[in-house]
Amino acid sequence: MISLRLQPYTNVKPNECPSLPFPPLSCPSRFSPLNLSRRRIAPRLIIRAMDTTQHFDYESHLSQRLTKSTKLKIAIVGFGNFGQFLAKTLVKQGHTVFAHSRSDYSEKAAELEVSFFKDADDLCEEHPDVILLCTSIISTEFVLRSLPLQRLKRNTLFVDVLSVKEFPKSLFLQILPQDFDILCTHPMFGPESGKESWKDLSFVYDKVRIGNGESRELRCERFLDIFKNEGCRMVGMSCAEHDRHAAESQFITHTMGRVLEKSSLHSTPINTKGYETLLNLVDNTTSDSFDLYYGLFMYNKNAMEQLERLVLAFESLKTELCGHLHDLLRKQLFGKAEEGVERPGDRMLLPELPQNGSLLFSRSENTNKERSYFF
Ligand SMILES: NC(=O)c1ccc[n+]([C@@H]2O[C@H](COP(=O)([O-])OP(=O)(O)OC[C@H]3O[C@@H](n4cnc5c(N)ncnc54)[C@H](OP(=O)(O)O)[C@@H]3O)[C@@H](O)[C@H]2O)c1
Repeated sequence: MISLRLQPYTNVKPNECPSLPFPPLSCPSRFSPLNLSRRRIAPRLIIRAMDTTQHFDYESHLSQRLTKSTKLKIAIVGFGNFGQFLAKTLVKQGHTVFAHSRSDYSEKAAELEVSFFKDADDLCEEHPDVILLCTSIISTEFVLRSLPLQRLKRNTLFVDVLSVKEFPKSLFLQILPQDFDILCTHPMFGPESGKESWKDLSFVYDKVRIGNGESRELRCERFLDIFKNEGCRMVGMSCAEHDRHAAESQFITHTMGRVLEKSSLHSTPINTKGYETLLNLVDNTTSDSFDLYYGLFMYNKNAMEQLERLVLAFESLKTELCGHLHDLLRKQLFGKAEEGVERPGDRMLLPELPQNGSLLFSRSENTNKERSYFF
């Protein structure tokens, strides 16, 4: 198969190279076979193709196939904080990146070498291989339902990066046509924690639905390769399992960061390493939007239980501290008087004191009464 096309070109003077996409034959060319033959071709012809692909040109065939299979056309939907953060790496790795968002990010996109589409129809008509959903958790359903899916290729791969996983999985399965592939992912890092590098940072994924066929499997692998290539720790895990772990780890981390922010921590001249860690935690978690935090709570059914455990843990810790104070005060007040009194257990002091009739409970049973006694 020969892709060399010659076309008359009349306005070229001998030895002159006009600013055309391709040089006329009289220009120096790096393709020596063409140079050799150019005297036999009329000088008024120009080459409209830079290379000739012939059926024996295996190198060219192979390189074309390789390029096609490794590089993807990826459309980011939701070009906020996290969408832009991901775009930098996608572009760096040579993928073609499009973006669409509620707000106009044309300028920001141009800086990042991303093509921005204000209109979702135009974006979908580019027929991306992958739609990468980076919207806030709470707007995901609205955004997904407003995409003109009919304009996409019949077997487009849908990927999400939401910090909760069961929710987008069930949304995708409900809304997307059967022919679309679904990959649910969660990069366990963000613009702060992944600022320098993604090396050894966890990337969780669940291949929810990848259709049969080499090209569809390959496309999914190519997408995962983006994170593998950056050195991420790839963790295949079901969406349900992710949400159980994330409520214990991520939701608690964000909650602690926000609690500490509310208590207005400041850097001091004598910060310990531990305190520095807390200050960093506040920075890391509060730079994310409140929508994100709210999404972690609302759209992960395990989050409420974790919040309640946290509140109980605070209560119990406070009770324990107050209990020690209680013991100390009692020793000071009644030290001598209590000597020789038999104590069935370390935590059964009060029931044996008739003068304090209102406190006839062990400390662990009646924490509230004790507290009102002291404060
Ligand atoms: N930040 C992280 O560290 C991190 C890490 C892993 C995963 N994620 C996930 O990545 C996603 C994006 O996170 P983010 O940090 O960029 O902040 P976010 O506040 O969770 O989401 C911001 C994005 O959602 C869009 N959006 C919000 N409300 C919308 C609405 N009503 N209609 C249409 N679009 C709406 C915004 O569009 P406009 O900007 O155009 O308004 C923006 O693109 C989230 O699902 C989050 O869970 C984030």
